[in-house]
Amino acid sequence: MQAFTKISEIKAAVAKAKADGKTIGLVPTMGALHEGHLSLIRRAAQENDVVVVSLFVNPIQFNNKEDLAKYPRTVDADLKLIEGVEGTIFALVPSIEEMYPEPVKDVYHFGPLEEVMEGPQRPGHFSGVAVVVRRLFDIATPDRAYFGEKDFQQLAIIRNLIEQIKYPIQIVACPIVRADDGLALSSRNMRLSPAARAIAPTIHNTLEQAAEMAEYEDVDDVKEWVMSTLASFHEVNPDQCPDGLKFEPEYFEIVNARTLQPIENWEDAGNDGAVGCIAVWLDGVRLIDIVKF
Ligand code: PAF
Repeated sequence: MQAFTKISEIKAAVAKAKADGKTIGLVPTMGALHEGHLSLIRRAAQENDVVVVSLFVNPIQFNNKEDLAKYPRTVDADLKLIEGVEGTIFALVPSIEEMYPEPVKDVYHFGPLEEVMEGPQRPGHFSGVAVVVRRLFDIATPDRAYFGEKDFQQLAIIRNLIEQIKYPIQIVACPIVRADDGLALSSRNMRLSPAARAIAPTIHNTLEQAAEMAEYEDVDDVKEWVMSTLASFHEVNPDQCPDGLKFEPEYFEIVNARTLQPIENWEDAGNDGAVGCIAVWLDGVRLIDIVKF
């Protein structure tokens, strides 16, 4: 692994690799790496000659200052983890000034894709993601770029970005990696207290049960059941919820997997399939997850 802090230097290394006929895979991350990120990096290393991994907490995609301040930063540990992956890996760890030497003026729009779920909850978030991802595309000029399915809406936004900017990059969607108890791995999990971490798998378990209910219940009933099951968890299980610990579900939406538009009946998803996407606050941490129906 080679680590770079200067964009001009990593660009030169990538240009040399491409001149030698090598293919490039890009794995954009905000650091605080876990097994989910490592699965993306390993896959990219299997499918490309060189992998560019970026570690950059992108300030312009945070609409909440506290969330940005609390976002875990563990660069030394991250670089050690990357070191353990086999392959030619360039890690990019730029400063904010290096990434954004000028104030950012670009704004991206994604129409109906950003009018649902994360969009209204996090104004400006997806435009901020698009700005940094496009910059990373320009730096790494990858053949393929790897994103996790946990951020399901982000994946649709990135696919749309590729269409807007017409870059010939293959977007590779990678499955969620879960802890043994089912909790979707996330850099934010490390901020959960032990009691919160212990009940956090309830999110995935509830979604799994929702998938079973979908066999015989209407879309609205499943949505209502998921929201109320999580919102009332602390009342039903007070012993597992000390000091006012509780789930505060922000949204649970069942959408067409391609258009991300909410469906009213299961048939509305057609061949695209239906996906349930959830955001839940627990212990001051915002967790997201998905279930495929
Ligand atoms: O998914 C993330 O971690 C971020 O949104 C990304 C794609 C690295 C852009 O900052």
